Amino acid sequence: MEEFQVKDKTLAPQGHLQIEWASAHMPVLNQIKNRFKKEKPFKGLTLGACLHVTKETAVLADALVAGGAQLALCGSNPLSTQDDVAAALAERGVHVFAWRGQNTEEYYSCINKVLDYKPVITLDDGADLVGTLHSKRIQDLDNVKGGTEETTTGVVRLRAMEASGSLKYPIIAVNDAYTKYLFDNRYGTGQSTIDGILRATSVLLAGKNFVVCGYGWCSRGIAMRAQGLGANVIVTEVVPTRALEAAMNGLRVMPLSEAAPIGDFFVTATGDINVIRKEHMEKMKDGAIIANSGHFNVEISLKDLEKLSKTKRTIRPNLEEYMLKDGRKLYLLAEGRLVNLAAAEGHPSEVMDMSFANQALNAEYIAKTSKMAPKVYPVPKNIDEKVAELKLKAMGVKIDELTPEQKKYLETWEMGTT
Ligand SMILES: NC(=O)c1ccc[n+]([C@@H]2O[C@H](COP(=O)([O-])OP(=O)(O)OC[C@H]3O[C@@H](n4cnc5c(N)ncnc54)[C@H](O)[C@@H]3O)[C@@H](O)[C@H]2O)c1
Repeated sequence: MEEFQVKDKTLAPQGHLQIEWASAHMPVLNQIKNRFKKEKPFKGLTLGACLHVTKETAVLADALVAGGAQLALCGSNPLSTQDDVAAALAERGVHVFAWRGQNTEEYYSCINKVLDYKPVITLDDGADLVGTLHSKRIQDLDNVKGGTEETTTGVVRLRAMEASGSLKYPIIAVNDAYTKYLFDNRYGTGQSTIDGILRATSVLLAGKNFVVCGYGWCSRGIAMRAQGLGANVIVTEVVPTRALEAAMNGLRVMPLSEAAPIGDFFVTATGDINVIRKEHMEKMKDGAIIANSGHFNVEISLKDLEKLSKTKRTIRPNLEEYMLKDGRKLYLLAEGRLVNLAAAEGHPSEVMDMSFANQALNAEYIAKTSKMAPKVYPVPKNIDEKVAELKLKAMGVKIDELTPEQKKYLETWEMGTT
């Protein structure tokens, strides 16, 4: 069996430095790693992971390997792998199959190479590994005890599998832990999406009309950070409560068809398909910039953009100009793939510290727990609270404790108006 496949093994020294830098900002995961080193919860187990191959993922990989795991890893997006980190991981003994700029065939061949290692626990981001196991590799399902899922879109897919009776092993929805989505999806995606847009375009946000499609956990963060840089943020939504929240947060809310002619930037983070399509592109201003931060590259209709265009050229990395037949130019970032990972480096290490602490602790939970039915499970509350507790401690933040009187008061009903 192939040991690893990366773009360039000589990039490893830079990759080790990147991992060292990330690790210095991930105190919670480091504490878990130190415990794993002693307790070896994954001794004798093979873990198969499909995650963005970034410097933070490498710190998670170190923790799992310290816990005794044999780890096989592939990327969860064709454009998100950091090649220096992949090279360093190969040198650290991880069976890594990932490089930046894969085509669809290469992407799935790497997933299959991870599955060739017959993982007992899967760690997925977007459910492509789980999807492949349940469709093309059903013969390998019996080896699997359980898994974890990192992102909203993956959890949505897994719930659909559960509802249709297709899910064959238990999976913990790491995304749905408070210590994941409240911080990773909001502050992580918020900051790194703006980072990706700025690295790709280097243009000013202040005073521009910045249209955010969706007002969920990621899009709230993107809207918040764009507003902080002085952009006029416009939100589009399909759920009334979310639209109302955006309106009460002082943002303009309108249908995308109305936002299309006035937006300078358009960013999707909905987990939905064809959110920006022909009817919107036809109305956009000359020079409008379009990006996506949702998991898959389906939120912007690339087919429509291609059809409306007569030529296409790359202006700079991650910035493509589409010359429309009517003479307008629209600019697409990072091929419509998640802009924060493709054009920047993904979330800052400090938030991945919590997301990946959850991954590590939930993988350990699966390794130690027997007889879980094939369902999608929430993260156990004690794990979520433990991650928050460790993070606060690492940040040097102390909090109050309930007094015995308060504890009793909150657990009883007798005392009312006094
Ligand atoms: N870029 C990253 O690093 C990153 C990180 C975390 C999650 N994600 C991905 O981002 C996406 C969003 O995740 P989330 O946690 O914010 O989900 P969420 O469910 O909290 O929010 C999505 C929002 O989009 C809205 N929406 C759906 N269809 C829409 C449409 N046609 N027009 C306007 N709004 C629409 C929904 O009503 C919802 O409010 C998912 O694909 C998720 O996997 C990406």
